[in-house]
Amino acid sequence: MSQECIKIMPKGPLSGTVSLVGAKNAVLVIMASTLLTEGTSVLTNVPVSADVLGMIELLRELGAQVSFDKEKKRLVIDTSDVKNFTVSPEIMKEMRASVLVMGPLLARFLRAHIVFPGGCLIGVRPIDYHLKNFKKMGVSIHHVDELLKAETQKLQATRLALEYPSVGATENILMAATLTEGVTTLVNAALEPEVLDLVEVLKKMGANISVVAPATIEVTGVSSLQPIEHEIIVDRLEAGTLLLAGVISRGDVYVANARAHDLDVFLMKLQEMGHEVEIGANGIGVRVKATPLPEAVSFKTGPYPGFPTDLQAPMMAAQCLAAGTCEIHETVFENRFLHVRELQKMGAQIKFLFGDKVQVKGVDALYGTHVIASDIRASCALVLAGLAAQGPTIMTGIKHWRRGYDKLEEKLISLGASLTIDMPDELMQSGDLINLEQQL
Ligand code: UD1
Repeated sequence: MSQECIKIMPKGPLSGTVSLVGAKNAVLVIMASTLLTEGTSVLTNVPVSADVLGMIELLRELGAQVSFDKEKKRLVIDTSDVKNFTVSPEIMKEMRASVLVMGPLLARFLRAHIVFPGGCLIGVRPIDYHLKNFKKMGVSIHHVDELLKAETQKLQATRLALEYPSVGATENILMAATLTEGVTTLVNAALEPEVLDLVEVLKKMGANISVVAPATIEVTGVSSLQPIEHEIIVDRLEAGTLLLAGVISRGDVYVANARAHDLDVFLMKLQEMGHEVEIGANGIGVRVKATPLPEAVSFKTGPYPGFPTDLQAPMMAAQCLAAGTCEIHETVFENRFLHVRELQKMGAQIKFLFGDKVQVKGVDALYGTHVIASDIRASCALVLAGLAAQGPTIMTGIKHWRRGYDKLEEKLISLGASLTIDMPDELMQSGDLINLEQQL
């Protein structure tokens, strides 16, 4: 258990201008995609987060030479000497996104040996869509103890359909298809901005890819791909969190390089709450001026361009202090409400309608207390709630915060928040807290 915590003191409205770094969900898969090439690729705008460091370890284990200038956020990956196609269990279990090396390894070596990444707190998160479609591409999959061995003599191009537009399955299949002779068609593909950033990278490498309606990706295989230079797309989820920090503190926040058109439904919901949203030229730059009397709004998460599941928890924190009652329906992950109990500890009135739906009744105030983050986005929800709560909030489980963000706390501080990363005081080490952390 990490002994560190984030302490948040109420400081009133946050205001000012901030900028985003590259998106975690884009950079991880783009790092994996460099395995499709032999040579040196350069990625810029790379967030310094724990998951990025984990993916660097994974690439090194496979034989890549990697150097990361954390100040310049510039990552150099040389994949010339990659010979290994086995990922060790220690790395696999730390980070679910490590499954994304399967597609590139199959394309390059016709083999990928990984460990089943398993479930996680927000849901079971199986990889059956990945495996089912690799099998249709001619891959045989064998389980040997905890090892999952995927092997083929030759990848086969074919027409594939996803029963749900899974981000990871789309990315894995897409990467495998780039070096597969013939035309691979993927129907009901995920088209999140991060998937499209990967498509742009693969095209720069020399892949032949078209995205066509309705939600279909066609890939005509090529014989080899070249290393690239690429600036990672900005993080729309970090943008949403910073805008919500303005909203929940009744402040005025401008996110200078946010891409508004990646956040249409989310921004619409902020407007429905009564907040003023200004969008810059060509959709770049978003400012939110919070209303002092926000209305509660119901929303339902869904695949892009729907409301992002990764902003469900942060948005719930804002609903806790809005006037009226709303319903929040989580349709992407089956267990993504672990923040509910923590928000309730702060005085939020939230009740479960079904396993995937809650009702939030706005309250006049939240109260700071000890809360525990159970996943990356839950950590955001709790920090946001702490910004608006009366009294200090102390959040443990900050490894999740570090997995997803590159010093997001410093951006909040620059907007006026009082936030410190510290060791818990004696109260924090009480038996109750430790018991609760062990349950999560
Ligand atoms: C990615 C994002 C994550 C985001 C999620 C949905 C990364 C690194 N992570 O996760 O932040 O919350 O997209 O936008 O990009 N599923 C199956 N079988 C599969 C694959 C998925 O049943 O083989 C289910 C999942 O359990 C989940 C749903 O499909 O209920 C969506 O998952 P998916 O889109 O695959 O999410 P990830 O790629 O894991």
